[in-house]
Amino acid sequence: MTADTPSNKQFLADYRPWPFELRQTALEFDLAPSATRVTAVLDLAPRETAADLVLDGGKGLQLLRLAIDGAAPDPAHVRRDEETLTIAAAALPQAAFRLETEVEIDPSANTAFEGLYLSGGMFCTQCEAEGFRHITFYPDRPDVMTTFRVAIRSELPVLLSNGNPVRQQPGLAEWHDPWPKPSYLFALVAGDLVAISDRFTTRSGREVALNVWVRPGDQDRAGFALESLVKSMRWDEDVYGREYDLDVFNIVAVDDFNMGAMENKGLNIFNSKLVLASPETATDADYERIESVIAHEYFHNWTGNRITCRDWFQLCLKEGLTVFRDQQFTSDMRSAAVKRISDVQALRARQFREDQGPLAHPPRPDQYEEINNFYTATVYEKGAEVIGMLKTLVGDEGYRAALDLYFDRHDGDAATIEDWLKVFEDATGRDLAQFKRWYTDAGTPRLTMREDWVEEAEGGTLVLDFAQETPPTPGQPVKPPRVIPIAVGLIGPNGDEIAPTRVLEMTDARQGFRFEGLGARPVVSALRGFSAPVMLERVIDDATRAFLLAHDTDPFARWEAGRDLALSALTGLAQGQAGGDGYVEAIGRLIADEGADPAFRALCLNLPGEEEIATRLAAQGVTPDPDAIHAARGDLARRLAEAHEALLAGIYDRMVVPGDYSPDAAAAARRALRIAALGLLSRIDGGDRAEVLFGTAGNMTERMAALTCLIRRGRGQTALRILEEQFGDNRLVMDKWFTIQPMVAPPADAVEIARRLAKRPDFEWQNPNRFRALLGGLAGNHAGFHRADGAGYDFTADWLMRMDGANPQIAARMSTAFETWPRYDAGRREKALAALRRMAAMEGISRNLREMVSRMIA
Ligand code: PHE
Ligand code: ZN
Repeated sequence: MTADTPSNKQFLADYRPWPFELRQTALEFDLAPSATRVTAVLDLAPRETAADLVLDGGKGLQLLRLAIDGAAPDPAHVRRDEETLTIAAAALPQAAFRLETEVEIDPSANTAFEGLYLSGGMFCTQCEAEGFRHITFYPDRPDVMTTFRVAIRSELPVLLSNGNPVRQQPGLAEWHDPWPKPSYLFALVAGDLVAISDRFTTRSGREVALNVWVRPGDQDRAGFALESLVKSMRWDEDVYGREYDLDVFNIVAVDDFNMGAMENKGLNIFNSKLVLASPETATDADYERIESVIAHEYFHNWTGNRITCRDWFQLCLKEGLTVFRDQQFTSDMRSAAVKRISDVQALRARQFREDQGPLAHPPRPDQYEEINNFYTATVYEKGAEVIGMLKTLVGDEGYRAALDLYFDRHDGDAATIEDWLKVFEDATGRDLAQFKRWYTDAGTPRLTMREDWVEEAEGGTLVLDFAQETPPTPGQPVKPPRVIPIAVGLIGPNGDEIAPTRVLEMTDARQGFRFEGLGARPVVSALRGFSAPVMLERVIDDATRAFLLAHDTDPFARWEAGRDLALSALTGLAQGQAGGDGYVEAIGRLIADEGADPAFRALCLNLPGEEEIATRLAAQGVTPDPDAIHAARGDLARRLAEAHEALLAGIYDRMVVPGDYSPDAAAAARRALRIAALGLLSRIDGGDRAEVLFGTAGNMTERMAALTCLIRRGRGQTALRILEEQFGDNRLVMDKWFTIQPMVAPPADAVEIARRLAKRPDFEWQNPNRFRALLGGLAGNHAGFHRADGAGYDFTADWLMRMDGANPQIAARMSTAFETWPRYDAGRREKALAALRRMAAMEGISRNLREMVSRMIA
């Protein structure tokens, strides 16, 4: 492996506070596309004697001036290397002093979109996690917090930064952020932008100006984002008692953005796909995601900004908590049951997958080489699950008390997971030493449940015996038992609930729980609400699953019973066994039930994806065969459609949503059920309904669903052309267009389709959304990406290597397409490994991609 990028291994155990105090920061920007000047004035004071002043800042900073208390230090005391600037203690005053630097940087050459860069003629920044060091020399670490004063000089009309505006005049803007913050929350935007605006009065009476800034012409697609912001602000006051703390709140949409969005203080910067939406261009899923990400970034104002992280090992302190909060918000805005089920689906698809392979790591890792590689499903989604378990264990009141204490005790702090657990211990009196393993240990526990029924004179006793075991993960061979909250209810033989939900607290490797005085043997509804992120294994037959699908009072457990039926059928079919009749029958009863919630019926009608089937097989120790899985799924879908054609057709015809489009939960649920029916029907109607729908639907949700069916039937060409003619100049729609083709194509064609699309002039590969659209589309075609001849691996590796030269974060992130390689057959493993090795051997490979591929190869 080439070692031209220096190793940068960081360890949690090595944490030391910074030896200086930073009292305030003043920045001045003279913006010019290829030569921006940045002056930084840092008021510092030593906290230790004889400490050298080490500032982060790499080769991209051209140092023009350096002064300490107005005078240039002796050059003999100043040292620069690849990543830092060091001023020896000998050149520093013993007491408070002022450091001034002036640097020149080149935003136009910044293709990594980290630091200050240009996106479609507009200047913007991305500083989390370590982007600020590409702007100026600075202690770029989250535990150094201070107030910022920022002056921006530019002829561009809109000049924004954090905090409150101090002065706005042509060519100059000044901002002051009174809340101490770390550098990763700094932001600057300058461009030709327009805003749609509103006002919000906080409950203590602060008047806040709200703006969503977009490019001229996009205003009519920004309204939903603005409404979502107002809802978020109100919700955080109502539910967490958290108020906003500045006079303005700005959101800016940019087209080139590595992630979803960023919570910079008072100036959130968003990937435009998470701001812009209209019925013609965005799907129901897009609307829901916009609402939740707007909320997520807003909620960071307290969980992330007012209380930040001591170091990047603590990332899940802000992310797990903020995801948990945005999940609660969406549950309150929409349907709690549907939200929980979709969150679990996403957790399994991304986090369980991560936990099962070579990239497994704990929610709080204790080492990393490149922190950008740890913005993962484990840190975010599992981090949120861990908080959900805490809340289950301490109860709603305990949770509220702990959170109040957290905000009270740690406002203004850079905190740790230990601080977080301590507020729960202090507020509730509970010992959380064992619970902490959820933060420090990787891997998904396997929970096995055995039932013992003891018939007695007066009824009987049910004993539930649980065993937990967590398979080894990289660097963690042995896993001690964890506390697992297992929510259980009992259903009587007639379908009535006889024991409401009770939370069993499992703390040992094996543990039994008794339910006494039961009349007749009940059916156990286990892990209700998915009360812990574990894989539950139990001996259960299809009839019992169908019974739970019909009668369980817990919506998650009820859905899970159906899911389990589907997965047991599909894993069997994929291994050449017969099966699935029980599932087909049970679904028939469910969809005939007109009284059932359309959203719930839609969720049950969607078959598990191929990736999920593969994950289930792998967890059972079976090598997944992608082609067999693809065939099995297609087969079961066809059988469902044939068995229930009339019912499905009835649903399709009736679930039309009358009137103007609205993205609300009820309307979206009807559309979801309608297109779930369409998806099945199109397996047997040749795609005729889909063709009509594509031509007549006024909303993108139904059009994309129709297009999916048409492509699957091999008759998507016309519709694709129409979409391109209509929306060729709309990036967000064209991203969908780029994704859907390789994703839905027959597996044998997917790579060729991706190859052809990659040659188009509008495959602007340096745009992260466009790159993700195409490569992610291919990776989303399970059997296509894992083609037996390795063509999917090679095509992907070629593009990752090319991307790595421009944007290492995106290359590293997309390399996770390979993370499941060890579970496949020897032929595929060999080809995937060859592709990984080829990447590892690339000259000039980034630290980001190198860390990812070496973890995957190890
Ligand atoms: N902190 C952002 C969020 O979760 C994610 C992000 C990380 C954005 C790094 C950009 C860069 O809300
Ligand atoms: Zn976040």
